[in-house]
Formats: sequence, C-alpha cells, structure tokens
Amino acid sequence: MNPQSLLPRLRQWFEDYITQFSSDDPILQENVDLKAKHTRRVCNAVIDIGASLDLSKEDLCIAEASALLHDIGRFEQYSRYRTFSDYRSEDHAALGVKIIQAKRVLDGLEPAAADILVRVVGYHNRAVLPVGETERCLFFLKLLRDADKVDIWRVVTEYYQNAENNRNQTIELNLPDIEGVSDPVYEALMNGKLAQMADLKTLQDFKLLQIGWIYDVNFPRTFQIVREKKFLEKIRDALPQEIPRITAVYERARAYLNGNSSPCSILMVS
Ligand SMILES: [Fe+2]
Repeated sequence: MNPQSLLPRLRQWFEDYITQFSSDDPILQENVDLKAKHTRRVCNAVIDIGASLDLSKEDLCIAEASALLHDIGRFEQYSRYRTFSDYRSEDHAALGVKIIQAKRVLDGLEPAAADILVRVVGYHNRAVLPVGETERCLFFLKLLRDADKVDIWRVVTEYYQNAENNRNQTIELNLPDIEGVSDPVYEALMNGKLAQMADLKTLQDFKLLQIGWIYDVNFPRTFQIVREKKFLEKIRDALPQEIPRITAVYERARAYLNGNSSPCSILMVS
C-alpha cells in the first residue's frame, strides 16, 4: 500500500484509538483533548510547511502520517502516569513506537515509508537530530519538528494569555512560578542553543526554553509563521519586564528570527 491509500485509514484509526481514553475525570479528559487537538493542528502545520517545499503527493502523505502518529504515546503516557513529563514517566516517543508496532498500525504500508514513519516518531522529541540517519529520514524529521513546534507555540501562547484564570500544572510541568533564570538555561540560549529540559528549575526557565526553540527551526515557512503569529513576543509578554537576563535572551532570539527571512536558507530533500 502506498502512503496516499494509508492516510484516510490512519486518520480514522487515530480517532478510534483516542476514544478509549475518554474519561469522566475532567483533568484526564482535558489533557486527552489537548493532545488530540495538538495532533490535528500539527497535521495542518506539516501540510502548510510541506506545501512551501514542493513535496510530491506521496511525501506530503508521509509527512502528514508522521504528524498524526508522532504523539500517539502521549495518551497512554497520561492515562498511566498523569504527566506529560518524560523525565517523570517514560519517553513518549519510544512509547509511541511500541504502540504503532503492537497495534500494527502501519501493516500493509510499503516498507520504506513505514520504516521512515517509525524512525521519525521515535526521534521526534530528541534534543538533537540523530547522527548517521539518511537525508530522507532527517528531512521528514525536520519537517515534523518544525510543525510540532509551531503548534506547541500556539498551545503555550494561548495558555499564557488565559493562565490567570485557569492554571494547568501539566502544561507548566509542575515547575514553580518563582523569579529566576537558571545559569545553564541562560548560557545555552545566549549561545544560540536549545536549553535542556533537565536544567529547568522555574517556570521562567521553561518560558525562555520555549523562546529558544527558534534555534531549532529548519524551514523558511516556519520562521514566517513564527513572525506572523508573534509567538516570541507573546511568550515574552508572559514574563516579567526589566529583568536583564530575560530581555537579553528574548532580544537575541528575536534577532535570530529576523535574520532568517531569506529563502536561500531553504533545505530540500535529496
Ligand atoms: Fe511529542
């Protein structure tokens, strides 16, 4: 089976799969809904970014399938551990691969495409891109990671705009809302690198880490979306003003974003 034939079946499988996590527990339901909506939005973002790259129909279907499956481990993770923190539970990407294999979700799909999908799901949340992978696998992984970030930025910026009334400890990773930017977070971001989840000590660290995702964006269309949606500005608005470290991290990220408007930085699949 080619990826075009698989996709409609996969969309239906996803909707059927998540119904088993429906719950009377409003917190569980809220978090299941959060990830279901996130998945559908990542599908849309992958199609948007993919369209800017002139992909074949087949490759666009592989990209959308990767988006549909990338967080499939989140539902099991939350229902089992009541957290989205991989550190406090288990790696949701590896869990997703186990589910894809156990449920035989990709049975019948041509092996090369199935292989890419499994790898991309397994790698999608890594701090850095894997070494030694094929260019084709890395391309789909970069596309998924860009689309995933676009929607996580949407989730967190919408959340920060409404958080006054309705805090969600799961989104905040249970981090304390206290003053302070940790040294390793600050140093990584001022060097134009991603901050590490393991270094997070405060909610301010986490918000700055989210600003720093800009250093891991791959495609011009993604930079354009970040500018259009004003994601960095919105996260900055959820942080206190006139704290030198916060201002410095934000200004550096914004300068990087504005320097990435040229289409010559485009990366194409081989
Ligand atoms: Fe994920």
